[in-house]
Amino acid sequence: MLAGRRVVLAVSGGVAAFKAAFLARRIIEAGADVRTVMTDSACRFLGPQTMAALTGTPPVLDLFDQEDVSPHTSLARWADAIVVAPATAATISRLANGLSDGALAATVLAAKCPVVVAPAMHTEMWEHPATTRNMATLRSDGCVIAGPVSGALAGGDEGPGRMLEPEQILEILAGVFTPGPMEGWRVVVSAGGTREAIDPVRYVGNRSSGKMGNAVAVAAADAGAAVTLVTTVAAPSHSRIDVVPVESAQEMAEAVWAAATGSDVAVLAAAVADFRPADPVTGKLRRAQGPPEINLEPTPDILAGVAAMENRPYLVGFAAEVGSLEGAIDKAQRKGVDLLVANDIAKPGSGFGTETNEVTLITPDGATLPWEMLSKPAVAEKLVAEIVRRRGAAGSS
Ligand SMILES: Cc1cc2nc3c(=O)[nH]c(=O)nc-3n(C[C@H](O)[C@H](O)[C@H](O)COP(=O)(O)O)c2cc1C
Repeated sequence: MLAGRRVVLAVSGGVAAFKAAFLARRIIEAGADVRTVMTDSACRFLGPQTMAALTGTPPVLDLFDQEDVSPHTSLARWADAIVVAPATAATISRLANGLSDGALAATVLAAKCPVVVAPAMHTEMWEHPATTRNMATLRSDGCVIAGPVSGALAGGDEGPGRMLEPEQILEILAGVFTPGPMEGWRVVVSAGGTREAIDPVRYVGNRSSGKMGNAVAVAAADAGAAVTLVTTVAAPSHSRIDVVPVESAQEMAEAVWAAATGSDVAVLAAAVADFRPADPVTGKLRRAQGPPEINLEPTPDILAGVAAMENRPYLVGFAAEVGSLEGAIDKAQRKGVDLLVANDIAKPGSGFGTETNEVTLITPDGATLPWEMLSKPAVAEKLVAEIVRRRGAAGSS
């Protein structure tokens, strides 16, 4: 995977900088061409001459003291990937904030290629809220995060913050060039519970937290898909997730149907109201007016709408049941889905608002495949793998 690739190794100033020399070696052995950029602090821990000798090219150390008038843009354009190893807390902060005040940060900011970040620092620095915030930003900016792990740190300390070993970083770097199983796919996911207005203040709603749908969106995006997440709740930040915020079943239907046209897969995990107030009141209802009479009307059937589309995407529905999965089996046979994910929301650790889920897959012939209780992200990863396998076997719908 690395043969013939051009990799920039960006070294910042922590004790783990000595491992950057080994990492350069490993990347070169894997067949890639390596150039380095080093911060001033990195040069206190690792000699630039060592990196020059290992890679055959002197590291870029300064933005202004070079023959190249614009070393950061030249290096960024040359790179197929950048690995920041070790990434100090200071460098992580610069990258998260776009603070390009040196050759390393300017190179990363000027780059369009994948960036792998391998943090290394003492546990206190790693667990500081500022570092946590900065790491979340890098993740949502699309950086691939490599480590750290828990282990021996400088000065005899021990704990989370130890940089991954060069071989492990090499593996993650190679993964950047390996296409995910959903690479090139368009996937639409719905999440959360809809809210149907009674008046401008109140609504008819449900207990869905959106955690399961959000997890599916992240798993599909991590697998390489371009995801449209139609949601009523706060969405995860991910460079491959496009968020469409909605509130009512009607808004969700319009957004899902628009996104499903031309999509490869639709995973409809949202809890959509079946009925809505027929005549929402424009002004606020007052207690003094007495209890209102609320007439309900059906909402659009989003799943049926996608199922009826010409060239419809591979369609996965969700069904929340109480006590028995019979209703879900009936839904799988009736609704024109390719796969139904059912759960019994009355079971402890399963369903609305929980961190875990115990689901059963149901196919249109009524066959059931129960899965063990897993975290919602683990269910989502397994579901994405299942969709890839089944859609691949069936060809696109
Ligand atoms: C002995 C020593 C070891 C250090 N190790 C680390 C480290 O592992 N991680 C880190 O984030 N900072 C470490 N620092 C602090 C950084 O060197 C310092 O924050 C520096 O400004 C980082 O600059 P840079 O990110 O531009 O390379 C260390 C400092 C010293 C003196």
